[in-house]
Amino acid sequence: MNTELRMHAFVCVNERDESNQKGCCSSKNSLEVMTKLKRKVREMGIDDVRVNKSGCLNQCENGIACVVYPQGIWYKIPDREDAINKIALYLGEGPIADDYVIANK
Ligand code: FES
Repeated sequence: MNTELRMHAFVCVNERDESNQKGCCSSKNSLEVMTKLKRKVREMGIDDVRVNKSGCLNQCENGIACVVYPQGIWYKIPDREDAINKIALYLGEGPIADDYVIANK
């Protein structure tokens, strides 16, 4: 098992009441998306990247929000297999998943 992490991806699973105008990533199925991304990374044999839950990343309107450190790339992750696969590919040293970048530093 590799103990040195090359990347750490945090996926917002913050939940707000439906009446809150800011909305939240949880309402877009973020917990399931985070789990799918984590599973995909594991399936691909990527053992030097962690995918974890986070609280609000202040990108609520763009969510499901994800930030990858130390690269400082911010992604929005739609609940779609192709999007999750492209971001997993990036985490496995593939190209930046341009279609889903919110900000790159
Ligand atoms: S609720 Fe996810 S970024 Fe704010």
